[in-house]
Amino acid sequence: MGKTIGVMSLKGGVGKTSSVVALGDAISELGKKALLIDGNLSAPNLGLHLNLLGFPTLHHVLARRANIRDSIHKMENFDIIPSSILYSSKLNPLELRDRISPLKKRYDAIIIDSSPALNEETLAVMLASDGVIVVTTPDIPSLSMAMKAVRMARQRDILVIGLILNKVHDKYFDLSIEEIEDTLGVPVLAVIPYDTDIQKSLYEFMPLTQYNPNSNASTEYKKLAGVLIGEKYRPSGFREFFKTSPKKEEINREIYYHRVFG
Ligand SMILES: Nc1ncnc2c1ncn2[C@@H]1O[C@H](COP(=O)(O)OP(=O)(O)OP(=O)(O)O)[C@@H](O)[C@H]1O
Ligand SMILES: [Mg+2]
Repeated sequence: MGKTIGVMSLKGGVGKTSSVVALGDAISELGKKALLIDGNLSAPNLGLHLNLLGFPTLHHVLARRANIRDSIHKMENFDIIPSSILYSSKLNPLELRDRISPLKKRYDAIIIDSSPALNEETLAVMLASDGVIVVTTPDIPSLSMAMKAVRMARQRDILVIGLILNKVHDKYFDLSIEEIEDTLGVPVLAVIPYDTDIQKSLYEFMPLTQYNPNSNASTEYKKLAGVLIGEKYRPSGFREFFKTSPKKEEINREIYYHRVFG
């Protein structure tokens, strides 16, 4: 039975969709079957990251105009259920959980992208997930919205698996991991540097993990993917060999892995 993970933030542009694509690709590189779903119904962009304008979409499924199986589009490494940029008829986002539940046995992981809007579509992603990952950038406006997202999940007894700290410059103006973890009470499971390769990979409609598989950002996504599915990714190379003490996010991943997979 696959694990369903919602990737969320209540702030736009922090890197939810880029993270969903990189994680989906990293999971498939580890030999597991991944399905990516665009749960951002009001401003869908998962398909746009991958040059996919598929039909039917999640909108058609939620409006009961298509079967969920027909909305699955096969990409090279993973499957995807896109949403529609144009759809405007009435539908109930809260049906998401029931619609995707028959798919759980066909995938090792289902990753759901979400909207930054504080509305029913975001709630639907939370309720459809076994746990959520909150994406934040290391600044106060983003952190304040991450706080809201964590509170929203906890009020509904939804597991907050951890945080992706994205667009990190590692400069004095970035909030530190400690400040972020202390504020949210949630472990940072991946630190992704600010990396223009992510923008370049979007331009090429490619997952970052394909565009530049050995970059620090890709390695971090692969390590996160590994602990989420219980298949540890062990990078090789000099950078790993000469590493001295483990970073906070590595310790957090290790703790998560041992808690979930023993
Ligand atoms: N680590 C990073 N370094 C540099 N650019 C990044 C990074 N992560 C994401 N970006 C860029 O930031 C922009 C927004 O990313 P993305 O679309 O993934 O965010 P989002 O949270 O899904 O946005 P929305 O809320 O609008 O759906 C994109 O141009 C993407 O290429
Ligand atoms: Mg997005």
